[in-house]
Amino acid sequence: MYTGNELRDMFRKYFEERGHKILPSASLIPKDDPTLLLTVAGMVPFKPYFQRRVEPPFPRATTAQKCVRTPDLEEVGKTARHHTYFEMLGNFSFGDYFKNEAIPWAWEYITQVLKIPAEKLWVTIYPEDAEAKSIWVEKAGVKPERIVGDPENFWAAGPTGPCGPCSEIYIDLGETRGCGKPGCSVGCDCDRFLEIWNLVFMQYNRDEAGVLTPLPKQNIDTGMGLERIASVMQGVETNFDTDLFRPIIDFVAGLAGIAYKENPKSDLALKVVADHTRAVSFMLADGIRPNNEGRGYVLRRILRRAVRYAKLLGIDKPFLESVFRIIQRDYAHAYPELKENENFIVNHLNLEEKNFQATLEQGTQMLQEKVKGLLEQGGTVLAGTDAFYLYETYGFPVELTEEMLEEHGLAVDMPSFQAAAEEHRQRAKEQSQQMRAVSESPALVQKVKQLGITPFVGYDKISSMANIEGLFVAGEERQDAGEGEEVTIFLSETPFYAESGGQVADGGVLRTSRAEARVLDVKKGVTGTLYHRAQIVTGVLHVGETVEAVADQTNRLATTRHHSATHLLQAALRSVLGEHVQQAGSLVTPERLRFDFTHFSPLTPDDLRAVEGLINEAVLKNMPVEATEMSLDEAKQSGATALFGEKYGETVRVVKMGTFSKELCGGTHVQSTGEIGMVKILSEGGIGAGLRRIEAVAGLETLAYLRSLDEQVSEVAQLLKAQPADIGKRVGGLVAQVKDLERELSHLQAKLSKNEAEGLLSRVAEVEGIPVLAAQVQASDMEGLRQMADLLRSKLPTGVLVLGAVSEGKVNFVTAVSPTGLSGLHAGQIIKEVAKITGGGGGGRPDMAQAGGKDPSKVGEAIDRVPAILRGFLQK
Ligand code: ALA
Repeated sequence: MYTGNELRDMFRKYFEERGHKILPSASLIPKDDPTLLLTVAGMVPFKPYFQRRVEPPFPRATTAQKCVRTPDLEEVGKTARHHTYFEMLGNFSFGDYFKNEAIPWAWEYITQVLKIPAEKLWVTIYPEDAEAKSIWVEKAGVKPERIVGDPENFWAAGPTGPCGPCSEIYIDLGETRGCGKPGCSVGCDCDRFLEIWNLVFMQYNRDEAGVLTPLPKQNIDTGMGLERIASVMQGVETNFDTDLFRPIIDFVAGLAGIAYKENPKSDLALKVVADHTRAVSFMLADGIRPNNEGRGYVLRRILRRAVRYAKLLGIDKPFLESVFRIIQRDYAHAYPELKENENFIVNHLNLEEKNFQATLEQGTQMLQEKVKGLLEQGGTVLAGTDAFYLYETYGFPVELTEEMLEEHGLAVDMPSFQAAAEEHRQRAKEQSQQMRAVSESPALVQKVKQLGITPFVGYDKISSMANIEGLFVAGEERQDAGEGEEVTIFLSETPFYAESGGQVADGGVLRTSRAEARVLDVKKGVTGTLYHRAQIVTGVLHVGETVEAVADQTNRLATTRHHSATHLLQAALRSVLGEHVQQAGSLVTPERLRFDFTHFSPLTPDDLRAVEGLINEAVLKNMPVEATEMSLDEAKQSGATALFGEKYGETVRVVKMGTFSKELCGGTHVQSTGEIGMVKILSEGGIGAGLRRIEAVAGLETLAYLRSLDEQVSEVAQLLKAQPADIGKRVGGLVAQVKDLERELSHLQAKLSKNEAEGLLSRVAEVEGIPVLAAQVQASDMEGLRQMADLLRSKLPTGVLVLGAVSEGKVNFVTAVSPTGLSGLHAGQIIKEVAKITGGGGGGRPDMAQAGGKDPSKVGEAIDRVPAILRGFLQK
């Protein structure tokens, strides 16, 4: 019996022997691919080779690729074979071999290496693909009656991109595994016929309009799910019973204190928890951070589903980390990122779990109330806006809400949920669209493909002579461009740094003896070509002529100082806070630096002082800064800090600052740390779960910052008529003085109202023998009015009180009747009538009520009418 690990190795070895290069699995984050959220198949990392956007460095490859697919999330655990995360074994040809080799190899591997009997196998083909059929029959020796056409055999990774007809191998697991329905045959959804291998004949590219164009060359992309083939080879019923899963399931069962395979309902939950925890562990290991959009949301949703299913199993304590440890134990030898990034993984698992537990409790409570209300009213559908509120406020994935409602036979109004979500998305999209660059024209794409990498010569100079290799205006290729036009220019080499690694692009000028253009922005394309966006200020620029390209020196130097300071900051943070500190983003500009990193609590003032101190000591030591190119492996071995979740090429640049810092970086740097100048941290704060942000300045910007502080201090000192050194003491004195004055003021105010109240008592009149005091008074707000009413009530134990006040255009009334029920009078009813006169409304208790009015000019009239209103009530 083969283990999962053996099956992974055997596959790749078989293809290695047939000229394929074994590559490690690529990240679950597709590189440079806005069309895909996650790596969903073995072919994803190779899309640029199929499309020839990038020349393939080798003609054949084989991999075991980490994949995540979530469209069938709800099926996980219910069937024998659905997963969120899984491994896909594959062999690939980049315009090298095609069907003639791929088909016989697949057949040989299945029948000769794995020794699955041919009698159990079936093959499906795309109905129009006669060629594939004849190769299966003639070259592989498959019986024609075992080959069936299936119009669905056309495979694509997404709505756009490389695709082609495919051909699949199925195994018949026997009648006992089938659904028993009359039509049950290959392709039936039941568990009897299991697809084990898909061979895709990649020969088209599909564009946004759905149009297929032939790819430059014919390619092969195959995929065999490791968990599935393991279930077949290990003779077990489901993927969850293979050695790839069973240990995780057993561990979770242990946590829940139950046994696997005793109760179908808990088995389902065990499978979900095992599958989902494995998925989130691998997603975190690739640097995906849980959040509310894109792949971060997918991660969060899977993680939360795991927590909820664990709850169903009765697991109430945090459990994700302990399950992760089992996954790490079983998988880290094949996927070292589970070890290398363990701090990141564990921190996020724990934090997300804790946060979700809390929101789960609150949200469940709220949902339960909604459910109760719905059931009482005989409703069956929860409003979409409620579901969206749960999502927004409590982080409840709507799918989870649906599942929880399902338990009561209820559903979510999905159209209205979608509408609410869509509105939200639309707002977000509008923001991001404003930032996205204009889409590229075909001529431009052609050009950059032809040009390839633009050599960057700006590490040690800021100007160079370069040839204009291409000129575009609004996506159209041109031979020249003149004054006022905004152009995209390609140069034979460039001293301009293109925005990357957080460092902003250089500005500057392009000059000939007769023309000059101002460089507005520089960007790097996927091909490594640098796009200079520029505006021609005078003259005409022509393709083929030489220009003097000059980056703006002042800004470049300031940016460079901030970039080098960022490296010192990262090293200092790691030394003060610990090695778990990982860069999570940065922005380096001429004005300042911003550095985002992982850490789980705010920095204390002592931490901040220590970090700032270490950085400035490193500056004063004036350590040499060296940049060296080396292979990624060498760099990692040398202990250089790499940006987590980032993809690097084969050769990388390592920037070393004495013994203090060593980082992979393509940015520009000072030659020795002394050039950075003094570094000052401006702010530190949280920007999300487990993420902090520091902003700082270096060099002349520090001077500018200190000067402005100085000016502010002088200004304050002048206002205080004090020496700058004394302002703290003076302000302290002023604050105390203000407090005293406030106390005195409120004392005086109370006394005033008391006096006014006492003065009012002389205006008590009688209505039908009942003492009545109705008056317009001064009170700044309802609170003040109520206080005055309380005071008057204490002096008027029997009677009716109606007070009105106007303050800042607002009308307030208070009414009191004491003792309660006096002559059948009701304060709430009285005030309603009174407030109505000023266009307002209100009500309240029988003894005390308050109300607002609208028209301040009518308050006097309202008060005058009080006796009449009271008479009206008394006569009833
Ligand atoms: N890319 C193909 C699949 O995922 C092999 O099925």
